[in-house]
Amino acid sequence: MLQEFIAENETISIFVGGKLYPRHEAKVSVFDSVVQGGDAVWEGLRVYNGKIFCFNEHLARLQSSAKTLAFTDIPATEYIKDAIKKTLKANQMFTDAHIRLTLTRGEKITSGMDPRLNQKGSCLIVLAEFKPPVYDNTKGVKLITSHIRRNSPAHLDSKIHHNNLLNNILAKIEANYCGADDAIMLDNLGFVSETNGCNIFMVKNGVLLTPNADSCLPGITRSIVLRIADELSIPMLQRNISIAEFYNAHEVFTTGTIGELTPVYEIDGRKIENKSQNKLLEKINAAFKSLIQTEGEQID
Ligand SMILES: Cc1ncc(COP(=O)(O)O)c(C=O)c1O
Repeated sequence: MLQEFIAENETISIFVGGKLYPRHEAKVSVFDSVVQGGDAVWEGLRVYNGKIFCFNEHLARLQSSAKTLAFTDIPATEYIKDAIKKTLKANQMFTDAHIRLTLTRGEKITSGMDPRLNQKGSCLIVLAEFKPPVYDNTKGVKLITSHIRRNSPAHLDSKIHHNNLLNNILAKIEANYCGADDAIMLDNLGFVSETNGCNIFMVKNGVLLTPNADSCLPGITRSIVLRIADELSIPMLQRNISIAEFYNAHEVFTTGTIGELTPVYEIDGRKIENKSQNKLLEKINAAFKSLIQTEGEQID
């Protein structure tokens, strides 16, 4: 899976630190914390049918991540909402758009690690692009298991949605070398955590299972899937799951704002074979597709 350049994105305007700039002029300083140490937090959001999906949930997670990293001037929700809506309107983006929202700790007075050098305030970036879901959700994806472990709370807690993404990027590089679309990352104990960019679910004998949110990001799409399962009375469990269980699952799929719900057809060379009568992904996906068209905060 390699995303392609979309010509319409050549002329977009991007919000950086309070102002909109044309794509090629949108920049941060070389003294910015994100350049110096990946010291920033981020969210990916989607726009469907004139509405921003799960807007409040994404902004709350951005602000919590920034609080955990002890940012001292986290912008208020209304400020961030205005910045996003202004960017979408400037770009005439009212559907099928993806927003990469970043809050950096801002510019430092000199290079260095110490956050006390950040004396110019945090920097909000709203990068909205025309971008359909990035995976082939009809064919599905092929995964391998990476030898890179997903961060546990003992290291850099995966509950912080930060820009220090090398843990995931190393796993993605492994997937690329293996000719796979993405990589499954295990936790410290060897249980499945998530993929390098999405949460993961499996179905066995009519039960929907997903790993405990110990070493993975507790994704917003993941929580929507759990909500749908509850509404559809689908039995559901969150527990430690081994890779052997995933190889023998009836259905496997990943979830995330970037790709929505994506079937997995192969893991480490093992085909995922649905030997049951159930098609739970199809049911859950139908409910998800209807939610994204109806729920969300209006752009105007
Ligand atoms: C590592 C990782 N897992 C899962 C997700 C999915 O989260 P969400 O459903 O909130 O987009 C993301 C999204 O950024 C991610 O980076």
